[in-house]
Amino acid sequence: MGDKTMTLSQSNSARRSSFGRLELVNLSKSFTDSCFPAIDNINLTCEAGEFVVVVGPSGCGKSTLLNIAAGLLAPSSGEVRLDGVRITAPGPSRTIVFQEHGLFPWLTAYQNVELGLKLKGISKSERQDRVQAALKMVHLTSAGEKLIHQLSGGMRQRISIARALVMDPPVLLMDEPFSALDAHTRTLLHAELQDIWCRTKKTVLFITHSVGEAVRLADRVIILASQPGRIRREVRVPIAHPRDFDSPDISEVVGVIRREIEEEVNRVNAQMAQDASAA
Ligand SMILES: Nc1ncnc2c1ncn2[C@@H]1O[C@H](COP(=O)(O)OP(=O)(O)O)[C@@H](O)[C@H]1O
Ligand SMILES: [Mg+2]
Repeated sequence: MGDKTMTLSQSNSARRSSFGRLELVNLSKSFTDSCFPAIDNINLTCEAGEFVVVVGPSGCGKSTLLNIAAGLLAPSSGEVRLDGVRITAPGPSRTIVFQEHGLFPWLTAYQNVELGLKLKGISKSERQDRVQAALKMVHLTSAGEKLIHQLSGGMRQRISIARALVMDPPVLLMDEPFSALDAHTRTLLHAELQDIWCRTKKTVLFITHSVGEAVRLADRVIILASQPGRIRREVRVPIAHPRDFDSPDISEVVGVIRREIEEEVNRVNAQMAQDASAA
Protein backbone atom coordinates (compact mmCIF):
# COMPACT_ATOMS: atom_id res chain seq x y z
CA MET A 1 0.00 0.00 0.00
CA GLY A 2 2.69 2.42 1.00
CA ASP A 3 4.41 1.70 -2.29
CA LYS A 4 1.26 2.52 -4.21
CA THR A 5 0.95 5.89 -2.52
CA MET A 6 4.54 6.55 -3.42
CA THR A 7 3.77 5.75 -7.05
CA LEU A 8 1.24 8.58 -7.12
CA SER A 9 3.55 11.05 -5.40
CA GLN A 10 6.61 10.11 -7.38
CA SER A 11 4.89 10.48 -10.72
CA ASN A 12 3.97 13.98 -9.63
CA SER A 13 7.33 14.99 -8.32
CA ALA A 14 8.82 13.79 -11.59
CA ARG A 15 6.63 16.21 -13.50
CA ARG A 16 6.64 18.95 -10.85
CA SER A 17 9.25 21.15 -12.39
CA SER A 18 7.80 21.27 -15.88
CA PHE A 19 4.03 20.67 -15.73
CA GLY A 20 1.09 22.42 -14.14
CA ARG A 21 1.65 26.09 -14.95
CA LEU A 22 -1.83 27.59 -15.15
CA GLU A 23 -2.20 31.02 -16.75
CA LEU A 24 -5.37 33.10 -16.68
CA VAL A 25 -4.83 35.82 -19.26
CA ASN A 26 -6.94 39.01 -19.52
CA LEU A 27 -10.01 37.08 -18.40
CA SER A 28 -13.37 38.84 -18.42
CA LYS A 29 -16.85 37.41 -18.10
CA SER A 30 -20.15 39.25 -18.40
CA PHE A 31 -23.51 37.66 -17.81
CA THR A 32 -26.26 39.25 -19.87
CA ASP A 33 -28.55 40.05 -16.91
CA SER A 34 -25.98 41.96 -14.83
CA CYS A 35 -24.83 45.59 -15.04
CA PHE A 36 -21.25 44.69 -13.93
CA PRO A 37 -19.01 42.09 -15.49
CA ALA A 38 -18.67 39.16 -13.02
CA ILE A 39 -14.92 39.33 -13.60
CA ASP A 40 -12.97 42.00 -15.42
CA ASN A 41 -9.53 41.63 -16.95
CA ILE A 42 -8.04 39.15 -14.50
CA ASN A 43 -4.44 38.12 -15.02
CA LEU A 44 -3.15 35.39 -12.74
CA THR A 45 -0.42 32.82 -13.23
CA CYS A 46 -0.19 29.83 -10.89
CA GLU A 47 3.31 28.41 -11.18
CA ALA A 48 3.74 24.63 -11.35
CA GLY A 49 3.42 23.26 -7.82
CA GLU A 50 2.18 26.52 -6.34
CA PHE A 51 -0.76 26.73 -3.91
CA VAL A 52 -2.77 29.84 -4.81
CA VAL A 53 -5.88 30.85 -2.87
CA VAL A 54 -8.43 33.40 -4.11
CA VAL A 55 -10.49 35.16 -1.42
CA GLY A 56 -13.16 37.78 -1.62
CA PRO A 57 -16.67 38.59 -0.46
CA SER A 58 -19.62 36.58 -1.68
CA GLY A 59 -20.61 37.38 -5.28
CA CYS A 60 -17.24 38.87 -6.26
CA GLY A 61 -16.68 36.33 -9.06
CA LYS A 62 -14.63 33.58 -7.39
CA SER A 63 -16.65 30.64 -8.74
CA THR A 64 -16.88 32.27 -12.16
CA LEU A 65 -13.08 32.48 -12.24
CA LEU A 66 -12.62 28.85 -11.19
CA ASN A 67 -15.24 27.54 -13.61
CA ILE A 68 -13.47 29.32 -16.45
CA ALA A 69 -10.13 27.84 -15.31
CA ALA A 70 -11.79 24.41 -15.35
CA GLY A 71 -13.08 24.95 -18.89
CA LEU A 72 -16.68 24.59 -17.64
CA LEU A 73 -17.52 28.19 -18.55
CA ALA A 74 -16.34 30.16 -21.58
CA PRO A 75 -14.89 33.63 -20.84
CA SER A 76 -16.31 36.65 -22.68
CA SER A 77 -12.69 37.53 -23.50
CA GLY A 78 -9.23 36.36 -22.57
CA GLU A 79 -7.96 32.82 -22.30
CA VAL A 80 -6.74 30.04 -20.00
CA ARG A 81 -3.49 28.21 -20.71
CA LEU A 82 -2.06 25.11 -19.13
CA ASP A 83 1.65 24.74 -19.80
CA GLY A 84 1.25 27.14 -22.70
CA VAL A 85 -1.65 25.30 -24.33
CA ARG A 86 -5.03 27.03 -24.56
CA ILE A 87 -7.82 25.33 -22.61
CA THR A 88 -11.38 25.47 -23.93
CA ALA A 89 -13.10 22.48 -22.32
CA PRO A 90 -12.99 20.48 -19.07
CA GLY A 91 -10.34 17.76 -18.97
CA PRO A 92 -8.54 15.34 -16.65
CA SER A 93 -5.57 17.71 -16.35
CA ARG A 94 -7.66 19.99 -14.08
CA THR A 95 -9.97 18.13 -11.74
CA ILE A 96 -12.31 20.16 -9.61
CA VAL A 97 -13.58 19.69 -6.04
CA PHE A 98 -16.79 21.58 -5.24
CA GLN A 99 -18.40 22.62 -1.96
CA GLU A 100 -21.20 20.18 -2.76
CA HIS A 101 -19.23 16.99 -3.10
CA GLY A 102 -21.33 15.69 -6.05
CA LEU A 103 -20.77 12.01 -5.27
CA PHE A 104 -23.11 9.36 -6.71
CA PRO A 105 -25.25 8.02 -3.83
CA TRP A 106 -25.89 4.64 -5.49
CA LEU A 107 -22.16 3.87 -5.71
CA THR A 108 -19.83 2.96 -2.85
CA ALA A 109 -17.03 5.33 -1.84
CA TYR A 110 -14.58 3.08 -3.72
CA GLN A 111 -16.73 3.04 -6.87
CA ASN A 112 -17.09 6.84 -6.78
CA VAL A 113 -13.31 7.23 -6.73
CA GLU A 114 -12.89 4.56 -9.41
CA LEU A 115 -15.44 5.95 -11.87
CA GLY A 116 -13.20 8.46 -13.70
CA LEU A 117 -10.56 5.77 -14.28
CA LYS A 118 -13.19 3.37 -15.59
CA LEU A 119 -14.47 5.99 -18.03
CA LYS A 120 -10.89 6.47 -19.19
CA GLY A 121 -10.60 2.74 -19.93
CA ILE A 122 -7.91 2.04 -17.30
CA SER A 123 -7.44 -1.69 -16.56
CA LYS A 124 -8.98 -3.22 -13.44
CA SER A 125 -5.66 -3.96 -11.74
CA GLU A 126 -4.35 -0.43 -12.32
CA ARG A 127 -7.67 0.97 -11.10
CA GLN A 128 -7.37 -1.04 -7.91
CA ASP A 129 -3.86 0.26 -7.24
CA ARG A 130 -4.75 3.87 -7.95
CA VAL A 131 -8.02 3.89 -5.99
CA GLN A 132 -6.31 2.31 -2.97
CA ALA A 133 -3.51 4.88 -3.17
CA ALA A 134 -5.98 7.78 -3.41
CA LEU A 135 -8.07 6.45 -0.50
CA LYS A 136 -4.90 6.09 1.55
CA MET A 137 -3.98 9.72 0.86
CA VAL A 138 -7.23 10.86 2.45
CA HIS A 139 -6.99 8.27 5.27
CA LEU A 140 -10.10 6.38 4.20
CA THR A 141 -8.82 2.96 3.13
CA SER A 142 -11.31 1.23 5.41
CA ALA A 143 -14.36 3.15 4.15
CA GLY A 144 -14.25 2.00 0.51
CA GLU A 145 -17.29 -0.29 0.72
CA LYS A 146 -19.53 2.27 2.41
CA LEU A 147 -22.34 4.01 0.57
CA ILE A 148 -22.22 7.82 0.54
CA HIS A 149 -25.07 8.28 3.04
CA GLN A 150 -23.09 6.17 5.53
CA LEU A 151 -20.25 8.72 5.54
CA SER A 152 -19.95 11.94 7.58
CA GLY A 153 -19.71 15.30 5.78
CA GLY A 154 -15.94 15.38 6.28
CA MET A 155 -15.56 11.84 4.94
CA ARG A 156 -17.64 12.68 1.88
CA GLN A 157 -15.47 15.67 1.15
CA ARG A 158 -12.34 13.51 1.52
CA ILE A 159 -13.82 11.00 -0.95
CA SER A 160 -14.41 13.80 -3.41
CA ILE A 161 -10.75 14.88 -2.96
CA ALA A 162 -9.68 11.24 -3.53
CA ARG A 163 -11.83 11.17 -6.67
CA ALA A 164 -9.93 14.20 -7.97
CA LEU A 165 -6.49 12.90 -6.89
CA VAL A 166 -6.96 9.48 -8.47
CA MET A 167 -6.87 11.07 -11.92
CA ASP A 168 -3.40 12.37 -11.02
CA PRO A 169 -4.01 15.82 -12.54
CA PRO A 170 -1.21 18.39 -12.58
CA VAL A 171 -3.76 21.00 -11.42
CA LEU A 172 -6.35 20.71 -8.66
CA LEU A 173 -9.16 23.28 -8.64
CA MET A 174 -11.13 23.65 -5.40
CA ASP A 175 -14.24 25.82 -4.94
CA GLU A 176 -14.93 26.35 -1.21
CA PRO A 177 -14.54 22.60 -0.64
CA PHE A 178 -14.70 22.81 3.17
CA SER A 179 -17.17 25.62 3.75
CA ALA A 180 -20.11 23.34 4.64
CA LEU A 181 -18.09 21.56 7.37
CA ASP A 182 -17.80 22.28 11.09
CA ALA A 183 -14.68 24.11 12.31
CA HIS A 184 -13.03 21.04 13.82
CA THR A 185 -13.45 18.90 10.67
CA ARG A 186 -12.26 21.80 8.58
CA THR A 187 -9.05 22.07 10.56
CA LEU A 188 -8.44 18.32 10.15
CA LEU A 189 -8.94 18.61 6.42
CA HIS A 190 -6.65 21.65 6.18
CA ALA A 191 -3.92 19.53 7.72
CA GLU A 192 -4.69 16.62 5.38
CA LEU A 193 -4.74 18.80 2.28
CA GLN A 194 -1.50 20.48 3.32
CA ASP A 195 0.07 17.05 3.76
CA ILE A 196 -1.21 15.81 0.36
CA TRP A 197 0.05 18.96 -1.34
CA CYS A 198 3.47 18.71 0.35
CA ARG A 199 3.78 15.14 -0.94
CA THR A 200 2.41 15.59 -4.47
CA LYS A 201 3.24 19.27 -5.15
CA LYS A 202 0.31 19.70 -7.47
CA THR A 203 -0.62 23.16 -8.63
CA VAL A 204 -3.66 24.13 -6.55
CA LEU A 205 -6.08 26.97 -7.27
CA PHE A 206 -8.34 27.14 -4.22
CA ILE A 207 -11.31 29.43 -3.67
CA THR A 208 -12.64 30.44 -0.27
CA HIS A 209 -14.32 33.28 1.56
CA SER A 210 -12.45 32.29 4.74
CA VAL A 211 -9.30 34.33 5.30
CA GLY A 212 -8.05 31.95 8.00
CA GLU A 213 -8.32 29.01 5.62
CA ALA A 214 -6.58 30.98 2.87
CA VAL A 215 -3.56 31.85 4.99
CA ARG A 216 -3.17 28.36 6.46
CA LEU A 217 -2.90 26.83 3.00
CA ALA A 218 -1.62 29.38 0.50
CA ASP A 219 1.75 30.28 -0.91
CA ARG A 220 -0.01 33.31 -2.31
CA VAL A 221 -3.40 34.85 -1.54
CA ILE A 222 -5.25 36.79 -4.23
CA ILE A 223 -7.83 39.23 -2.87
CA LEU A 224 -10.63 40.03 -5.27
CA ALA A 225 -12.57 43.27 -5.45
CA SER A 226 -16.20 43.03 -6.49
CA GLN A 227 -18.49 44.76 -8.97
CA PRO A 228 -16.66 44.10 -11.19
CA GLY A 229 -14.48 41.22 -9.99
CA ARG A 230 -10.87 42.35 -10.27
CA ILE A 231 -7.65 41.55 -8.45
CA ARG A 232 -7.41 44.06 -5.61
CA ARG A 233 -4.22 42.85 -3.98
CA GLU A 234 -1.89 39.90 -3.83
CA VAL A 235 -0.27 38.78 -0.55
CA ARG A 236 2.53 36.22 -0.36
CA VAL A 237 2.53 33.98 2.72
CA PRO A 238 6.23 33.50 3.44
CA ILE A 239 5.77 30.71 6.01
CA ALA A 240 7.31 27.29 5.36
CA HIS A 241 5.11 24.20 4.95
CA PRO A 242 4.01 22.19 6.82
CA ARG A 243 2.60 24.98 8.94
CA ASP A 244 1.58 25.19 12.53
CA PHE A 245 -1.89 26.65 12.13
CA ASP A 246 -1.73 28.27 15.58
CA SER A 247 1.43 30.23 14.80
CA PRO A 248 1.35 34.02 15.39
CA ASP A 249 2.88 34.48 11.91
CA ILE A 250 -0.35 33.13 10.45
CA SER A 251 -2.48 35.45 12.61
CA GLU A 252 -0.45 38.42 11.41
CA VAL A 253 -1.07 37.71 7.72
CA VAL A 254 -4.75 36.97 8.47
CA GLY A 255 -5.00 40.46 10.04
CA VAL A 256 -3.54 42.13 6.94
CA ILE A 257 -5.94 40.35 4.59
CA ARG A 258 -8.99 40.86 6.85
CA ARG A 259 -8.38 44.62 6.87
CA GLU A 260 -8.07 44.64 3.08
CA ILE A 261 -11.37 42.76 2.67
CA GLU A 262 -13.12 45.02 5.18
CA GLU A 263 -11.98 48.03 3.16
CA GLU A 264 -13.29 46.35 0.02
CA VAL A 265 -16.69 45.64 1.58
CA ASN A 266 -16.88 49.26 2.83
CA ARG A 267 -15.93 50.53 -0.63
CA VAL A 268 -18.69 48.49 -2.30
CA ASN A 269 -21.28 49.52 0.32
CA ALA A 270 -20.36 53.20 -0.12
CA GLN A 271 -20.57 52.84 -3.90
CA MET A 272 -24.00 51.22 -3.65
CA ALA A 273 -25.25 53.95 -1.31
CA GLN A 274 -23.95 56.59 -3.75
CA ASP A 275 -25.62 54.86 -6.72
CA ALA A 276 -28.89 54.62 -4.77
CA SER A 277 -28.88 58.33 -3.86
CA ALA A 278 -28.06 59.29 -7.47
CA ALA A 279 -30.98 57.22 -8.79
N1 LIG B 1 -24.81 31.68 -14.56
C1 LIG B 1 -24.92 32.94 -14.16
N2 LIG B 1 -25.82 33.76 -14.76
C2 LIG B 1 -25.93 35.06 -14.39
N3 LIG B 1 -25.17 35.64 -13.43
C3 LIG B 1 -24.27 34.86 -12.80
C4 LIG B 1 -24.10 33.48 -13.13
N4 LIG B 1 -23.10 32.98 -12.34
C5 LIG B 1 -22.70 33.99 -11.56
N5 LIG B 1 -23.38 35.12 -11.84
C6 LIG B 1 -23.19 36.44 -11.21
O1 LIG B 1 -21.81 36.75 -11.27
C7 LIG B 1 -21.36 37.35 -10.06
C8 LIG B 1 -20.24 36.50 -9.47
O2 LIG B 1 -20.76 35.24 -9.06
P1 LIG B 1 -19.86 34.08 -8.47
O3 LIG B 1 -18.71 33.87 -9.37
O4 LIG B 1 -20.74 32.90 -8.21
O5 LIG B 1 -19.37 34.73 -7.10
P2 LIG B 1 -18.69 34.08 -5.80
O6 LIG B 1 -18.31 32.67 -6.13
O7 LIG B 1 -17.53 34.97 -5.50
O8 LIG B 1 -19.71 34.15 -4.71
C9 LIG B 1 -22.59 37.46 -9.16
O9 LIG B 1 -23.10 38.75 -9.30
C10 LIG B 1 -23.53 36.42 -9.71
O10 LIG B 1 -24.86 36.79 -9.49
MG1 LIG C 1 -18.84 30.82 -5.27
